[in-house]
Order: sequence, then C-alpha cells, then structure tokens
Amino acid sequence: MQTDSSFTFVLFGGTGDLSMRKILPALYEAHRAGMLAASGKIVAVARHEEDRAGYLQWVNEHVKAHVAKSGIDENAWASFIDRIEYVKLDLGKAEDFVKLRDALQDQSGTRVFYLATGPSLFVPICHALASVGLNENARIVLEKPLGYDLRSSNAINDAVGEIFAEEQIYRIDHYLGKEPVQNLLALRFGNALFEPLWRREWVESIQITIAEELGVEARGDFYDNTGALRDMVQNHLLQLLSIVAMEPPHSMDSDSVRDEKLRVLRALKPIDPRDISKVAVRGQYHAGVIRGTSVPAYATEHGVKTDSATETFVALKVEIENWRWAGVPFFLRTGKRLADRVAEIVVNFRAVPHSALGASALRAGANRLVIRLQPNETIRLYCLAKKPGEGMNLSSVHLDLAFDQFFKEGQMEAYQRLLLDVINGRLALFVRRDEQEAAWKWVEPILNEWAASGKPKPYAAGTWGPAAASAMLAQHGTCWLEEEN
Ligand code: BG6
Repeated sequence: MQTDSSFTFVLFGGTGDLSMRKILPALYEAHRAGMLAASGKIVAVARHEEDRAGYLQWVNEHVKAHVAKSGIDENAWASFIDRIEYVKLDLGKAEDFVKLRDALQDQSGTRVFYLATGPSLFVPICHALASVGLNENARIVLEKPLGYDLRSSNAINDAVGEIFAEEQIYRIDHYLGKEPVQNLLALRFGNALFEPLWRREWVESIQITIAEELGVEARGDFYDNTGALRDMVQNHLLQLLSIVAMEPPHSMDSDSVRDEKLRVLRALKPIDPRDISKVAVRGQYHAGVIRGTSVPAYATEHGVKTDSATETFVALKVEIENWRWAGVPFFLRTGKRLADRVAEIVVNFRAVPHSALGASALRAGANRLVIRLQPNETIRLYCLAKKPGEGMNLSSVHLDLAFDQFFKEGQMEAYQRLLLDVINGRLALFVRRDEQEAAWKWVEPILNEWAASGKPKPYAAGTWGPAAASAMLAQHGTCWLEEEN
C-alpha cells in the first residue's frame, strides 16, 4: 500500500550511523516496493557535507551496503536518489533554520522531522523548528534513548511537549515494528484458543530473552554511559512484556493498545531496593570466544573506561500485580556477547494436576509455547505425545509454525514499517509519554541501587551470562530454556 499522500521526510543526523544503517535503507526498501507516494521527498540535514552532490556521494558510498537481502535494484536506487534533497545546517545558527524553512516552502503534504541525533539535541532542534514556525502541522520522531532517567526524560518530554502536541510525537522503539511482535498481537487476540490459558491459573512462568552476540561495536562511549538496563530493558523488554501481558484491547486503534500496555507497566510490582540482589542480576563480559572467534573484554573496548561498572547483561524477575498475573514470575534477560543471537518469549504452562499417564507426563519440556522473534520467526507449541510402539512412553514434540514457509514474501523490516506508519499518521506502534514514564519509574530503583554500590558480575563472552542469572530461576524451580536442552 502506498503512503496516503505526499510527504516531506526531514532527516536530522543525515550522515549519522542510524541514518546510514537503518533509516535510509528502510526508506529505499519502501520506495522500491512502491510504497511511497511518487511526490514524496526526503530532505537530509547534516553539517558535514557541503551540498547535495557531496551528500549523494556519501549516500552512494555508505548506505548501499546496508540495504537488506533483496540487494540493490539500480533503477529503483536511481529514482530513490532523485527524491533526496540536502540542507547543510549548523544547529547553532538560527539563520540555518530559516534556510531549512525556505527549502521546505514548496513541499506540500505531510511533514515529518526525524531526529536521528543524540537526545541532547532534541530540545534545541525543536526550539529552532518552532522559531521559524516549522512545528505546525508536522510530526516529530524521537529516537531512543529518550533521557537517562525519569527526570531527564521528563525534562525532554516537557520541552518537546511545549512545541509539539502528543499526537504529533512519535517515540520510536524499533522492537514494536518487528513483524513477530505484530504477530504476537494476532496470536493472542485473533485466536480464542490461547486466551483462556493466558493467565495465572495455567501459566507457571514466562521468560523473555533478547540475547546478542555482538558487543558494543563502535558505540563504546555511548554504551558505557548507558548500560543494558537503559539500552534494552527500559524500552524493548518492557514493551515486549507489556504486549505479552496486556488485556485484550477494545480495538487496534493507537490509544486502545497503548492504554492496555500502560496498565501493565503501571501494575509492575515496585522493586524494594533491599530486594534488588534477589530479583536483579547484572553482568559484564570478559574476554571469550564466540563461534570460534576470540573477542576482547568489555573493559578494553574502545570508548569504555577500564574500571567500568556498566552492565552489559541484565536478568530480572518481574511480577505484575493484577488478577491475571498475580504470582506468575516473568523472567527478563538481555546481554551482549552472549552465546547466541536470539530473541524469544517462552510461556511455560503448568503441568497437568494429576497424571494418569505416569510421572513422565509431569516433566518439563512440554506444555510450553515458544515465540521466537529472531533470527528465524517461529512459534512452537510443545506438547507430550506417545512414542510409537509398545507401552505408554511419552515424549515432548512440537507443533511448528515457521512464518517464512507460510508467507513467502512481504516481510518488512521494523524501520520500514515504522517510517511508513509515521508518514501515514499511525501512532499505535509508538510509545506514548505515559508509558515511557511508567517504564522509567519502574527501573529507577535498580538504576539507583546499581549506581550506588557493587559491580556487575563477570561472565565470559560466548556464554549465557553470570551463573547468578541461572540461580535466580533455580529458586523458582525452573531454568532458562537453553539450559534444558
Ligand atoms: C538497540 C540497542 O536499541 O537495539 C542496541 O541500542 C541493540 O544496543 C539493538 O544492539 C538490538 O536490536 P536488534 O533489532 O538487532 O535486536
């Protein structure tokens, strides 16, 4: 489907890493697939390149390599390049914003300002846009991280909120744009089968893991001031949790979905600072081996302080204080330089209350739904079945739904979906301010406690994190999924 109408997509940070890796490739894919209105324009804004020719050369040299599997269709690439304009702009110079306004004067349709810059520039950019009247009838997209804690995030939201109304603000969490996350909504709210089971009477525990093999890459400096709790938990993991746990919304319109997610975030059991060591584990990777390649310790990465106490791994036990989930532990985990790249949600159902089939019917491994978000999108329902042959011997088997076998085409990268949603004015997959506040509020006691004392536990790169993360689950009579296999 093509975007509803013409648009101008103004990209601040036009030569930044995010523009190069994600935003421009996603816009190209949308263009190649015929999803952008023919008259839509992209106006890149940056300081480094002198003029359009210089910028296009940069795009040709840097962006092409990041275009997805489909590769480059040279004709489509050429017409994509035609859409791109460039404005050299120094944020400190008010007259440069007048130049930007003049450059946008002849463009009609929806206007989007995408701030692919550091968060410290969000407020100055918004002020400068307002000073030349560019905030009217426009949408603004804010990349994460939005703030460093509740206070700083409120300060940014307050300042941006004075210039743009909440309906104009699109806060990106790219996990919400992932196809499988959308599918989770379809699975939960499109099938009557799961709904009666999706509650404490039938669910024993839930695990949500986002594990990465990558380290901090070229972002050591940023990451060392951020850590996994801010980088992954406050946003991606809590958003996934809220989608797994939310009540069925009245409809899929943006506020119905976001209201339900908010209710979950507000129902998270507050963490008592005295209990943090029981429900939260932090780790930092040391040197190790991943798939046969040696990788260095976090503390020796470029941009990282040698005595850094920043966590590259977090595991948490979370509880939700409502009727549906009271008493059900949700175990969240994320880390860099782990043994595998995988993101998945594991719903462990309770064993049968009495087994007429013998003790093996009570064993773990069955009664489980595993929703794998990446790398291969699958949903597996593990059940017990009788092994062929004599006697009643049971074995765990699974019903397998591999999406790429059902749907051969039409897969869309998260950024592509989200950018199209911004252009089309669909807010459902963007984080509302109150959700963001609730998430910061919940993580803050952990942030404070960790900042005040102790250090992360070491783990070797290429493993699944510190042993304490396994011990935390063992206390609840369970283990992480990979420990069972
Ligand atoms: C980003 C984090 O938001 O998500 C990165 O800042 C992380 O540190 C990335 O690597 C993971 O996203 P994905 O889509 O590769 O799982």
